[in-house]
Amino acid sequence: MGAFDGADLDPTDWEAVRAQGRRMLDDMIDHMQGLRDGPVWRAPPATLRAGFREALPAAGSNLEDVYARFAQEVLPYSSGNAHPAFMGWVQGGGTVVGMLAEMLSAGMNSNLGGRDHMPLEVEQQVLAWTRQIFGFPQSAGGLFLTGSSQANFLGVLIARSRILGLESRRDGLDPAAGRLTAYTSSAVHGCVATALDMAGIGSGQLRRIAVDGDHRIRLDALAAAIAADRARGFRPFCLVGTAGTVDVGAIDDLAGLADVAAREGLHFHVDGAFGALAMLAPALAPRLAGIERADSIAFDWHKWGQIPYDAGFILVRDGELQRSTFASDEAYLRRSQSGLAGGDWWPCDYGPDLSRSFRALKTWFTLKTYGTQALGASIQRTCDLAAELGARIAAEPELELLAPVQLNIVCFRHRGADVDALNEAIVARLHAQGAAAPSLTCIDGKTAIRAAIVNHRTDRRDIATLVDQVLEIGRELAGERAA
Ligand SMILES: Cc1ncc(COP(=O)(O)O)c(C=O)c1O
Repeated sequence: MGAFDGADLDPTDWEAVRAQGRRMLDDMIDHMQGLRDGPVWRAPPATLRAGFREALPAAGSNLEDVYARFAQEVLPYSSGNAHPAFMGWVQGGGTVVGMLAEMLSAGMNSNLGGRDHMPLEVEQQVLAWTRQIFGFPQSAGGLFLTGSSQANFLGVLIARSRILGLESRRDGLDPAAGRLTAYTSSAVHGCVATALDMAGIGSGQLRRIAVDGDHRIRLDALAAAIAADRARGFRPFCLVGTAGTVDVGAIDDLAGLADVAAREGLHFHVDGAFGALAMLAPALAPRLAGIERADSIAFDWHKWGQIPYDAGFILVRDGELQRSTFASDEAYLRRSQSGLAGGDWWPCDYGPDLSRSFRALKTWFTLKTYGTQALGASIQRTCDLAAELGARIAAEPELELLAPVQLNIVCFRHRGADVDALNEAIVARLHAQGAAAPSLTCIDGKTAIRAAIVNHRTDRRDIATLVDQVLEIGRELAGERAA
């Protein structure tokens, strides 16, 4: 074990660990600096995977040797979302500032469930800034979570408390009183149905309302669905708007949805997983008009905010409703007037987690170091690049745009023969070649190549590479099929 031969787990040779730590930090900074020089992704070889599996280590090894395994066997085989040419799914690229802050928070090893310590002040500061971004009142509650899947789940639980009262925490659901129904568009992310499932309401109680030609929820169809459910004795309770749909980046008419929610007495939740942070880009923010009227917003700092994974967030207009949905009075969580068990803001009262990492620190560092203007500019840049990509695709006769480019996502396909299989094969070959990594989805029944430009490092070269490579692979595959 080298430097770790003492009775506890601290080093006996701190200088050796310091030197090793410096090498590790240097290597990671080199890695980030050189991201563009390597492939976006390379498949982990079967032999590497097999060799990596080993017995539970009873005896330790040198930190240096363990690090060498990481450097050779793990680091080169990441999913590539930090790489400028990564455009798959909707994933942020991270920053060196976030990485350094993560090291600091791991060093502190703080548990942000509660108690009286300065790290909670950092989370409260980020919460205060988040309220400001979305125009929420001082009384709004909020919390870091793993991601928007979890934040949407909390949104549904808070909406449930609101309609059924806090007794529902103890009594659960009473179907005899009318089953709850929630509303969203057919373009919703799957985690919203999962949230209803996990809340015991049932994913089948989520009404997926038809969308218009721009993939935005149709308000007329929404009103009709709510009326039909009321007529059948159901209890509409929650309306979920989307700011940035997962497939094409559409933004629902949030002001229109806020009106419907107010009229119908529904909790208005916005799934803004990536799109909500468009609020930081002055030219995009007006398209989210109405988000400031939401009852709760789920979003991720780790997507367009470029904070390293993970840093999901929920913001809740009625902070007291959020607190009373989750707080418990277990003896071991009691507060004192003073001392470490003091403090008046314990995040464990606002969500289900007692053990919570210091996600706020990397977010605070990022906001302080770059400022919202630079973050907003990088968000705007990804949308400008998407518009350029859309224009280039529209100009290429062999390619076809499959949805209007509204934000930072471009869905398109190659027009060649056996079109679905062809596009799947193009994406698989693109990934294998490592020059660009879009993902696949299905738009109106058609297999689509989906480029979600989220990473602040992506630039025009990556856009050009993507299109050039799709065209080239399309020709190669056509040639291979003809042969
Ligand atoms: C619109 C939308 N909602 C929810 C999610 C889930 O977010 P997370 O992966 O942070 O759980 C995503 C993920 O891409 C998304 O795009």
